[in-house]
Amino acid sequence: MRVILIGPPGAGKGTQATWLKERLGVPHLSTGDMLRAAVQQGTELGRQADGYMRRGELVPDDLVIRMAVERIGQADCGNGFLLDGFPRTRAQAEALDVALQAAGTAIDVVLLIEVPDELIIDRITGRVQDPETGTIYHLRFNPPPPEVAPRVVQRKDDTEQACRARLDKYHSETAPIVPFYRDKGLLRTVDGVGSPDEVSRRLLAALG
Ligand code: AP5
Repeated sequence: MRVILIGPPGAGKGTQATWLKERLGVPHLSTGDMLRAAVQQGTELGRQADGYMRRGELVPDDLVIRMAVERIGQADCGNGFLLDGFPRTRAQAEALDVALQAAGTAIDVVLLIEVPDELIIDRITGRVQDPETGTIYHLRFNPPPPEVAPRVVQRKDDTEQACRARLDKYHSETAPIVPFYRDKGLLRTVDGVGSPDEVSRRLLAALG
């Protein structure tokens, strides 16, 4: 199954993708994770992406499209994938369509997780991650266990200022792709407010 997860920063895309990928039996492809890995490894792509990410801006389409299309073409995506954070612009959505058409496939469903802006800043500024397992926590809503707490890290773009910039970009660049998928009959909208388990149940129901 080929699934896209869309939602504002902090909507819970990464949190939900952790179990959804197991359930669907497909790889979780997060362009944010790929770009952070490139930054950490000091590759040319990472060097070019770093500043945009720190400021909460989108990395230019040509860089991200090349990276994502290449990843989707890899062998482990033969039975599908769970895309998280891509596409994020109209140009990316169109490029994805072209790449999938060339491969004789198409997206099956687009899941939009909706969370109001006023909840986002709290979620983002309290987020921490275990660098060893990748598990995402929240200092208040889902605190890391005592043995994990000393090693958790915070993302560089999880400041309030960068978060507000990311939200602006979401509304100006990413939200406009929602009608693109609605017109194709692929969109299913899920309320992202509530506990992660409640949101999981809604996603399952939306997937049928
Ligand atoms: P990316 O890594 O994709 O970040 P994002 O879309 O801003 O999303 P987040 O990872 O911040 O949030 P999430 O929805 O996964 O939430 P999470 O589950 O962690 O992108 C980062 C940057 O990379 C971009 O700004 C851009 O620069 C660049 N980039 C990436 N892709 C790109 C593209 N295609 N084109 C151009 N540039 C690109 O949850 C957040 C917190 O909330 C956690 O602490 C979690 O524990 C908590 N939480 C989750 N669910 C709940 C719940 N139900 N109730 C309470 N708390 C919850």
